[in-house]
Amino acid sequence: MTSSSQLARPLRIGLIGAGTVGGGVYEIIMNRLGGGGGSSSSNTTAGQSSSSPSNNHHRSANLHPVITKICVRDASKPRTFHIDPTHTQIVTDVASIINDTDIDLVVEVAGGTTFAKDAVYASLKMGKSVVTANKALIAENLDELIGLIHDVNTKNGVKFGYEASVCGGIPIIHTLSGGCYKGDIINEIMGICNGTTNYMLGKMEEGVDYNEVLKEAQALGFAEADPTADVEGHDVRAKISILAKLSFGTTVPVHTIPCMGITNVSVIDFAYAKSMGCTIKLIGTATRKSQFGEHDGALSVYVSPKLVPNDHPLASATGCGNAVVVNSANLGTALYTGPGAGRYPTANSIVADIMRVADSTCPSAPFPLSSSIEIDNDYESAFYIRISFQDGLGIVRKVGEVAESMGMSIHSILQQPITDRMAADTVVTTEACKLSQVQEFCNRIEKEDFVLCPPVFMPMIPEY
Ligand SMILES: NC(=O)c1ccc[n+]([C@@H]2O[C@H](COP(=O)([O-])OP(=O)(O)OC[C@H]3O[C@@H](n4cnc5c(N)ncnc54)[C@H](OP(=O)(O)O)[C@@H]3O)[C@@H](O)[C@H]2O)c1
Repeated sequence: MTSSSQLARPLRIGLIGAGTVGGGVYEIIMNRLGGGGGSSSSNTTAGQSSSSPSNNHHRSANLHPVITKICVRDASKPRTFHIDPTHTQIVTDVASIINDTDIDLVVEVAGGTTFAKDAVYASLKMGKSVVTANKALIAENLDELIGLIHDVNTKNGVKFGYEASVCGGIPIIHTLSGGCYKGDIINEIMGICNGTTNYMLGKMEEGVDYNEVLKEAQALGFAEADPTADVEGHDVRAKISILAKLSFGTTVPVHTIPCMGITNVSVIDFAYAKSMGCTIKLIGTATRKSQFGEHDGALSVYVSPKLVPNDHPLASATGCGNAVVVNSANLGTALYTGPGAGRYPTANSIVADIMRVADSTCPSAPFPLSSSIEIDNDYESAFYIRISFQDGLGIVRKVGEVAESMGMSIHSILQQPITDRMAADTVVTTEACKLSQVQEFCNRIEKEDFVLCPPVFMPMIPEY
């Protein structure tokens, strides 16, 4: 008897990249979903034995993907997964995927913004659907990419999936773009979108020094040899620009987003945070101001470590975990949490996109239409400011004077008992004020004789 999956033409995939994520995509498609057993050959390999009968419900006639080519940099490099040569050819020339008229869909999991960009653009222009995990590529080229997808779609019905690009395994892109908030108005979205820094901050909360925890994260493979994109907040910046686009329709160019990473956060900040019932998280925020009582004003998008009350939903994301909080008019506050990276969680999001392309449920317009919401990234918040100083007379008075001259209202002044008069610190918390006011306050304070280094500041999430 002939089964329906033998009759249907498989969705043929070219996979660009076979590292952490690409390996997971290959294993799920070819082994768990039986892609290796569903194409022209009925051969299976030892690695495909997980295609158990219980998994076969995924393989309906039109949900039948198979990876026919993999492009890598170095074909001789040993892989951490088994590639079945009866179904899949390894290539190093990406054009042999892009120009292959037999390939319907390209999965880009190479990373970076040069080679990957060329491959994604060329694939779309060739009328192939694309699924990518590449937040940097999307965020840096958002409007250009949307234009290209629109142009290509007037001739070919290509699809573009990018679920894995933000918060790896958490289906936040689909939640925001797939209609869950269609009848709602999003006021604010905040995300812990970087597992490496969340892990590091968690260790610092336990008292481990920044440099030590960075070395440990690198040794464990959580942090790159060059950790800049993670610790300086650039990774979160790309992700929050994508979430802002989906939540508010507005493209906020990444280079205009104020971005502070975790390099200035110290163990002492956690001691002060604890005394206020808070923890510290690196958070990407996109929020609308209130003009007439609703969240109807300008949109602010920024990345910064933030003081988070311990009972706030975002405080619950520990270790490498990711979490996104969406605040909206109808639903109120909703928390989406889960693994933000890793082989299988990220590959799962890629495979979900592939399946949506295969069964034609992937939207033709993957991003919302542009909105005319004004952008004002000089955001407002209550702030935490730590000033390190050499003890002397009149310091609190001077701090108060500078704050007053800036029109900044001080909410509280905190100080741990001074144990070293040559290197002490005090924390000022403010009432709501603008980022630019705090920056100028810090610039002025830094010039005072008693100040030892640039003050460290971060916004505070109000009590939940
Ligand atoms: N890792 C995660 O948990 C995670 C989570 C979410 C999103 N992402 C995103 O997923 C993408 C891939 O990440 P990854 O961690 O899987 O990267 P990876 O482990 O470094 O793998 C990259 C793969 O791309 C190939 N490649 C790179 N440049 C190439 C070129 N010029 N020509 C041909 N092949 C090339 C490499 O080939 P060789 O193996 O031959 O060197 C390698 O197989 C990135 O955009 C990343 O931001 C990753």
